[in-house]
Amino acid sequence: MNAVYEKLMNCYQCVREKTDFVPEVAIVLGSGLGDYAKQIQVAYELPYSEIEGFPVSTVPGHAGKFIFGFIEGTPVVCMKGRVHYYEGYPITDVVLPARLMKLMGAKILFLTNAAGGVNTTFHAGDLMLIRDHIACFAPNPLIGPNIDELGVRFPDMSRVYDAELQEIIRDTAREQDVYLQEGVYAQLTGPSFESPADIRMMRVLGADAVGMSTVVEAIAANHMGMRTCGVSCISNLAAGMTQKPLSHEEVQEAADMAAKDFARLVTESVKKMGKWHKG
Ligand code: HPA
Repeated sequence: MNAVYEKLMNCYQCVREKTDFVPEVAIVLGSGLGDYAKQIQVAYELPYSEIEGFPVSTVPGHAGKFIFGFIEGTPVVCMKGRVHYYEGYPITDVVLPARLMKLMGAKILFLTNAAGGVNTTFHAGDLMLIRDHIACFAPNPLIGPNIDELGVRFPDMSRVYDAELQEIIRDTAREQDVYLQEGVYAQLTGPSFESPADIRMMRVLGADAVGMSTVVEAIAANHMGMRTCGVSCISNLAAGMTQKPLSHEEVQEAADMAAKDFARLVTESVKKMGKWHKG
């Protein structure tokens, strides 16, 4: 068996030995957004460290566990903490959790992250609906022998962020009076922040926000046929756009500023996604 697939199946078995919970929506909480987990009516928590072979994050503030439970009646699995490529994990490990949540039964993947604003109309603390992404600065997670059990060799990526899910999030933002930017998210590897010249380049290429996650997970999810959506919390304006040097602390501060809007947007959107999915 393909080694990547074998590891995934072993992790799946490990999860199933602990819980038979079947989520409908999988949520990944980005840097600084972990507090959202408090909104979940928890059924079961599973620390990543209890899943053999599962990649465990080394970044402060990314303490890792799966939270199984309900958001307004929708069964969800929520990742509090994710691993990043810059931590040194193979890219296939970085996307293992997204794949695992699909195997658990999740049909929808809701990705969130903290990102640097590249669009000059953005402000720290804004939320941005991800309309599309730029993937070519991060390693492709599908490199290697194709795992036919998961998807095809050359998956289409022309609609990674599901149009109907985008509409749900857009409508919810309107109803909840949450100011929502929209744009293209580019994943770079990090861990260093970009230079001002990197950011000027990213702007020319069409990026509205930059970060160090999300795109590879979206690719792996799309490969498996998961409906995917994403929201970025603009934690700072990107390098060169202000006089301030960038820091990880700033990410947490901006996420705290956006926390209330973020929580309402996610909760109300997930509620609709649950109902919508059942038809
Ligand atoms: N660049 C890259 N990743 C980030 C940033 C940034 O400015 N802010 C939060 N994550």
